[in-house]
Order: sequence, then structure tokens, then C-alpha cells
Amino acid sequence: AAARFGQGPLAGKRVLLTAGPTREFLDPVRFISNPSTGKMGLALAEAARTMGARVTVVLGPVGAVDRTGLEVVDVVSAEEMAREVLSRVREADWFIASAAVSDWRPETRAPQKVKKGETPEVLKLVRTPDVLAEASRTVAGSSRRPVLVGFAAETERVLEHAREKLERKGLDAIVANDVTVAGAGFGTETNQVTVLTRAGTRRDLSGTKREVARGILELLLPLAAPPTE
Ligand code: CTP
Ligand code: CA
Repeated sequence: AAARFGQGPLAGKRVLLTAGPTREFLDPVRFISNPSTGKMGLALAEAARTMGARVTVVLGPVGAVDRTGLEVVDVVSAEEMAREVLSRVREADWFIASAAVSDWRPETRAPQKVKKGETPEVLKLVRTPDVLAEASRTVAGSSRRPVLVGFAAETERVLEHAREKLERKGLDAIVANDVTVAGAGFGTETNQVTVLTRAGTRRDLSGTKREVARGILELLLPLAAPPTE
């Protein structure tokens, strides 16, 4: 049974999350994306809500999902995701970036469907905004800086890459995900992760995405500033 609103260890806290993939269109009917289903992010949203938080999910295209008790802001592209996050992150107590944001988009988007006879010989790509890094810069030095949590989806040298991202993006913690492990990563019901903190702690968690989500939040609760009383 879900906890009543406003009770639990995150009572009254605002948790902002990104979840799902983004789509970067090259014409009205074609896009670049990835296999993310948003399940891990939505499990985190549900876990945070159960712990009493007010949860906003900036959600890429994932199809029909249970939105009960969540504020969901639907977005398609990385640029839209960045805009919706940056307008909200200053008010957040937690920002958790679980979205699989496309790192590139086609440089141009054709206004009409490109016909198959007009095969583009090269597809020029440009970088999208790094939503998490921009959010981190936006709140850097603020007295009410949210706890910043990232994910790292890796296929090799997982912890090394995750640690590097934690430092480069100015995070408090990062959830490292080896997406080559069976039963972890994109689209699965279960996950197996290692949570690294800026303070240097390291913890392995595995189970259903729901269990892992709860484990991540419980592990990270001490990172939040103590109530000012
Ligand atoms: N992220 C983001 N915006 C992007 C790319 C990544 O917000 N344009 C966030 C992800 O949501 C995740 C973290 O940054 O929390 C790390 O994402 P990941 O793809 O693992 O790392 P990148 O920094 O994009 O580096 P690379 O893909 O080269 O490994
Ligand atoms: Ca990336």
C-alpha cells in the first residue's frame, strides 16, 4: 500500500526526474533514439512518491505508463527535456537524471518527409545539450542546491567511466549500469547497479527495478541537507 502523501523520509521534498529516451527527428517520420523504456526512472518516481515526495518526471516517449500520483511533463527531444528541466531544477530538492538522452541530433530536420529515392549519403549529426551537466551548472553554488544523481550506462570499464562522469558533471552520486549484463539495463524488469557517491562510497544493488529504486533512494537519503530547524 502506498504511503499517504506527505509522509515518509522524503515528506514534502520535491523530486525532479528525467526518464525514458529522447527522439531526434531528421524529417517528420524518422528519428534517432535508443531502447530505453523509462522503467528504472518510473520505478524511482514511484519509490520517491511512496516515501512522501512530490515528484515531477520529465519523460521522453515511452508509451502508456502508470502516472498515478506523479506530475509528468512529456517531451520528445533532448532540447525540450533540457528546457523543462532547467525551468524546474532550482526548486527541486533532488534531481535524478535517469533518461537515456540522445547525445546527437541530425543537424537539420527536413520539413517534409524525405522520399526514399532521395537517399541522404551522409547524415550530419550535432551534439544535443547535456541536460544533467546544464542542470548541475544552473544550481552550482546555490544555497539550496538539490542533491544531484546521475546514471551511467556503460558497456566497458563501467566504474571508471561512472566515476569520471560523477566528477565531470558535479554530481553527489551516480548509478552505474553495465548494460551488457543479462537482467540489467534497457527494457528489463530487473537491474543490477553500483551506486558511487562523491564521498567515495560504493554499493552494489540488484533486484527488480522497483527494489533497486527503493535501495538507491534509501542509500542516498543521508545526502540530503538536514531539515533547517
Ligand atoms: N545525460 C543528460 N543529457 C545528455 C546526456 C546524458 O542529462 N545529453 C545524463 C543521463 O541522463 C545520465 C548521465 O547524463 O544521468 C550520463 O549519461 P551517459 O549517456 O551515461 O553519459 P554521457 O555523459 O552522455 O557520456 P557517453 O554517452 O559518451 O558515455
Ligand atoms: Ca550519452
